[in-house]
Amino acid sequence: SCRVLVLISGNGSNLQAIIDGCDDNVQAEVVGVISNNPEAYGLIRAHQNEIDTSCVIAHQDETRSEYDERLLSAIEQYQPDLVVLAGFMRILTDELVMRFEGKMLNIHPSLLPKYTGLHTHQRAIDAKDVEHGASVHFVTPKLDSGPVILQAKVPVYEDDTAEVLAERVNEQEHAIYPLVVKWFSQQRLKMQNGAAVLDGNELEQHGYA
Ligand code: GAR
Repeated sequence: SCRVLVLISGNGSNLQAIIDGCDDNVQAEVVGVISNNPEAYGLIRAHQNEIDTSCVIAHQDETRSEYDERLLSAIEQYQPDLVVLAGFMRILTDELVMRFEGKMLNIHPSLLPKYTGLHTHQRAIDAKDVEHGASVHFVTPKLDSGPVILQAKVPVYEDDTAEVLAERVNEQEHAIYPLVVKWFSQQRLKMQNGAAVLDGNELEQHGYA
């Protein structure tokens, strides 16, 4: 069974979707949850599902690489086959990312390559985009720029606020992230030469369609 470790900072609704997706038909198990935020609601979700948790809280005056060294120690305790970033709101050092090359996924709330970084929903509204969405991708050192595996699209309506749009996107995230975790656990999904490959077929820039 594929040992899945999930990193969170907040609500953990994607964590919940992945826990629920790892049912008897899927050879994957969430073996641990790490949060940088001790107040994250996702930690309660983990406890409710009898999943072990750790908090790695940033110290004042700590460098990014010092933090990531402590994070790496916490990650290694779980011996994961796959590290899943699910609303983990910290930028990781290149060193940590490269340590898990091809074994680390992220979900980002935009149709990448559009809107890397923060405030994606407001930016889509401001740009008068008619569609928006979320992308699951392999993590590479360049922020939100690793090869896309799967995207979900949602419409943007004229009277949308960022909050309403975020909710619409979040709901679709819960459909795509567990599916990608399943593909990975079935060893159907790999990163090869910087591209996402599913069943031996290289996915296009925008992922599986
Ligand atoms: C999700 O919408 C995810 O795409 C986003 O945070 C939310 C976490 O929700 N991630 C990022 O913005 C990463 N930069 P959740 O805690 O309920 O899963």
